[in-house]
Amino acid sequence: MKFTTTVAALALGATAISSAQAAISAGCQTYLTALSAPTNPLAKCRVYTALGFPGLTHANDHETPKLQKAITDYCATPACSPEQYAGVYKDINANCAADMVAANQADLGATMYMWYMSPPQRDAICLQSSKNTTCVIDSINEMIARTQFPDNNKNQDDLYGYLQYVTPMMSAKDTNATSFCTSCNQQVANIFVNYYTKSPSPYVLNFDQKLTSDKYNTDLSFQYKSSCQVTLGADFKPKPDGNSTDPSSVGKPNGKDDKGNAGQSAVVLSMGGVAATVAAVAGALAMF
Ligand SMILES: *[C@@H]1O[C@H](CO)[C@@H](O)[C@H](O)[C@H]1NC(C)=O
Ligand SMILES: *[C@@H]1O[C@H](CO)[C@@H](O)[C@H](O)[C@H]1NC(C)=O
Ligand SMILES: *[C@@H]1O[C@H](CO)[C@@H](O)[C@H](O)[C@H]1NC(C)=O
Repeated sequence: MKFTTTVAALALGATAISSAQAAISAGCQTYLTALSAPTNPLAKCRVYTALGFPGLTHANDHETPKLQKAITDYCATPACSPEQYAGVYKDINANCAADMVAANQADLGATMYMWYMSPPQRDAICLQSSKNTTCVIDSINEMIARTQFPDNNKNQDDLYGYLQYVTPMMSAKDTNATSFCTSCNQQVANIFVNYYTKSPSPYVLNFDQKLTSDKYNTDLSFQYKSSCQVTLGADFKPKPDGNSTDPSSVGKPNGKDDKGNAGQSAVVLSMGGVAATVAAVAGALAMF
């Protein structure tokens, strides 16, 4: 699951948390704190902050109409510009370059990931489905109906966990081809692939595993190719719901193949399920 270190730190209590924080330099921390201050207009450029997480949800929360309402309100506001994001990336690089080390993955790495992912996250959560709702809400409702937890982890059973899990849904594990390869999931994944291609990350997205946006792109593309036989990117043509030709390809353990590592271990960065719990910590670390 994503943010494993943070969760472990929470389990260990405040000492572990403060020692994790201590690794971030004062200059970087000061910059991030200013960036995340509610009075900073840029703070709202981070999608999950703008949506009102973590205050929006609680453990075992399946109230998707509430999330749909927050999404509708959010999508009616103007998006932040590419220039605004570019400015943040530049300033993060200027203030935090020395802090981009494996030990800081759970806090700084998570924060930087959230910044880089926010533009496609916005496009993804605002994508309308054919059912007069949004694709992400459809996908979440379907997961809840089949009692599939984000990352197969009961601790991520809240709206934050589900929303992160489906933007994009990366792992075909714990489901079948029909459920994984929906038109909505394909379209959401395609938003991310196009973004990775057009706007490569200006920093490593996971210090610990040295993951670049190119690696995320490869893994996500591979997952949809192998599970759904669909090509994401420039040649993308979504397959309709229910047209998965090879259900047996879904959920195969694929950890042996680097490319196939996609949803299984390499590309995992959801903070699902800890939204409410880490509220206080997140404030300090500027995570959301
Ligand atoms: C679609 O959603 C809009 C806004 O929520 C609503 O006004 C409209 O009646 C809905 N249409 C259908 C066919 O459900
Ligand atoms: C896939 O899973 C869904 C939801 O659990 C189920 O309704 C459907 O019958 C399954 N399809 C196949 C082909 O097994
Ligand atoms: C389902 O996919 C197959 C192979 O990709 C294609 O030949 C077929 O026309 C598709 N069916 C529908 C209903 O789209």
